[in-house]
Amino acid sequence: MQQPTVETLIETARAAARKAYCPYSNYPVGAALLARDGRIFTGCNVENASYGLTICAERVALTGAVAQGASDFVALALAAGADEPATPCGACLQVLVEFCPPEMPVSFATLSGGTVRTLPLRDFLPYAFRLQTAPLDAIHEQTP
Ligand code: THU
Repeated sequence: MQQPTVETLIETARAAARKAYCPYSNYPVGAALLARDGRIFTGCNVENASYGLTICAERVALTGAVAQGASDFVALALAAGADEPATPCGACLQVLVEFCPPEMPVSFATLSGGTVRTLPLRDFLPYAFRLQTAPLDAIHEQTP
C-alpha cells in the first residue's frame, strides 16, 4: 500500500487543528498519526475549564488509535503555531514512546505553511522512562 507523503500528513494535522477546543489558550494543535496499515488517526487539543485536564492533540490521536486496535505506528505529523511550529510536549513524548518506535519520524510545521521539519522520535526524548524488567543485578552492572 502506498503511504501518504509527509506533506499529506501535515495537511491532515492542519485539518485536525481546525477542530481544536482551545478557548483558554487560543492555541490550536493538530496531530496525524500514521499506522503501517495506512490508517491515519487524527487528534486536536481538547482544553478544560480545569486547565490541567487539557489533553494534547498527540495524546488524543494516539489513544484514539490504540482504542481502535492500531499498534504499529510509522509516522507522526504535528501542526501548531503561526510563526514557529511547536514540538510535542514532554508528557506526550513519554506516551508516544510507549507505543511508537524510536526511529519513527515526527514532522512538525506551523498551521499555515513554511518549513516542515522532521526528526526521529528518539531525538526528542532520548532517555525516556521505561520500567526496568531486568533483574536488579543487571541494572546495577549497567550503572557507571
Ligand atoms: N498542546 C498540544 O496539544 N500538544 C503539545 O504537545 C503541546 C501543547 C496544547 C495544550 C494546550 O491546549 C495548548 O496546546 C497550549 O498549551
